[in-house]
Amino acid sequence: MVSIQPADIHPTSFLQPSALDCSPNQQLLPLSAQIEANGHLQVGGCDVPQLVEQYGSPLYIVDEQTVRGACQQYRQAFQRYYPGSSQVLYASKAWSCMALCALVVSEELGLDVVSGGELYTALQADVDPAVIYFHGNNKSVAELEMALTTGCTLIADNWLELERLVELIAITQPKTPPRVMLRLTPGIECHTHEYIRTGHLDSKFGFDPQQIDQVLAFAQHHPQINWVGLHAHIGSQIFELQPHQDLTQVMVEWLTKAQSLGLPMSELNIGGGLGMRYVESDDPPSIDEWSEVICTGILQACQTAKLPLPKLLCEPGRSLIGPACVTAYTMGAQKHIPDIRTYLAVDGGMSDNPRPITYQSIYSAAVANCMDKAATEIVTIAGKHCESGDILLKDVALPPSQPGDVLVIMGTGAYNYSMASNYNRLPRPAAVLVYDGDANLILRRETYQDLIRQDCFPR
Ligand code: LLP
Repeated sequence: MVSIQPADIHPTSFLQPSALDCSPNQQLLPLSAQIEANGHLQVGGCDVPQLVEQYGSPLYIVDEQTVRGACQQYRQAFQRYYPGSSQVLYASKAWSCMALCALVVSEELGLDVVSGGELYTALQADVDPAVIYFHGNNKSVAELEMALTTGCTLIADNWLELERLVELIAITQPKTPPRVMLRLTPGIECHTHEYIRTGHLDSKFGFDPQQIDQVLAFAQHHPQINWVGLHAHIGSQIFELQPHQDLTQVMVEWLTKAQSLGLPMSELNIGGGLGMRYVESDDPPSIDEWSEVICTGILQACQTAKLPLPKLLCEPGRSLIGPACVTAYTMGAQKHIPDIRTYLAVDGGMSDNPRPITYQSIYSAAVANCMDKAATEIVTIAGKHCESGDILLKDVALPPSQPGDVLVIMGTGAYNYSMASNYNRLPRPAAVLVYDGDANLILRRETYQDLIRQDCFPR
């Protein structure tokens, strides 16, 4: 029996007044979203049901204004609150594709990449390696070589990597010493899903802070490397500001230690992690508030330690790209189980959004062609995969709908496409970038031919 009663929620409540001035991560819909006179949802000046007609479904619809707005808010906040130099990086793991790399770089952001594939994507998008930072807890030798050849900054994560790096430098003899940062685990707990927590001591990422003396001693003994600074990241989808404030103190302590040993480190990368609003009750801090805490935390800790201000970097992913996208689906089969539940099936599911089944994530939804109707029914949105757990949204209030209607799930820009799969051999959806009434394809829909492109028969 469903315990929730149908609520009289009006879809216009998803739109905030003067949304254009707001922090994108505090909104459910992209900043440009509007409801047309015919009750259709419009994003980036484009009618969503029409986009589905033109490009098919499922369809990722990315609002350029929201992406640019988020980039600008991060950049401006760092300029406002931090008197030293700073660089905001986009954590491209949230959604890596050439168009989005190029878009954020056009807003003067750099990129955080975490694999050879993400680095390749960035380079193909013409991103300058000088603003690329290469992470990862188990980079292969080939990936390390790729980083050295391109000249991006490496974030060293463990001893094996340092040893391999030294060996590779001896072989390749680069003209300039490679730029390397050291990632340490700060030992800071935060409240988020255990799979996306990284700052606690029991984490696979980064050097154990109890080994900081050994790590810094290694750096002292290897002047062939340009040790530019230190990195830490405490986790993702974090709504509290205190853990990040604590992190600023810890990182300045580390930097003080490094400088006291004569290491010329001058950059601190504080990671990402600011959360975003997925449902009405979520209340994340704004981009500005988060940035202020980071910047003033570092500033004050440096003043106390009498340390020159380091270059300050951060690398948001989710809060930057997540709110910019809605995924549009075509609704199909309906199953009413009297007194139990009504399932509405859509033409995608866990293959285009694996977050509900992986992290029990909850999203918000609306019917894009009925935005003017009150949400009077409680339904469950099912994906089309052969898996009972393939439920995108449980017990959500929607207006009455029928097969052929267009369902949108909001806030799908982060870790949806990037974690998408071909489960059940579903081709991955297309993505369009919308702005001012214009839609541009940024990812083509996969075809059945794409699905078998790597298949081969044994000899
Ligand atoms: N920097 C590092 C080193 C990271 O590991 C991450 C995320 C970020 C920055 C960006 O964090 P953000 O600003 O997006 O919170 N797939 C999971 C999220 C995994 C996050 C991995 N690291 C999800 O869908 O919730």
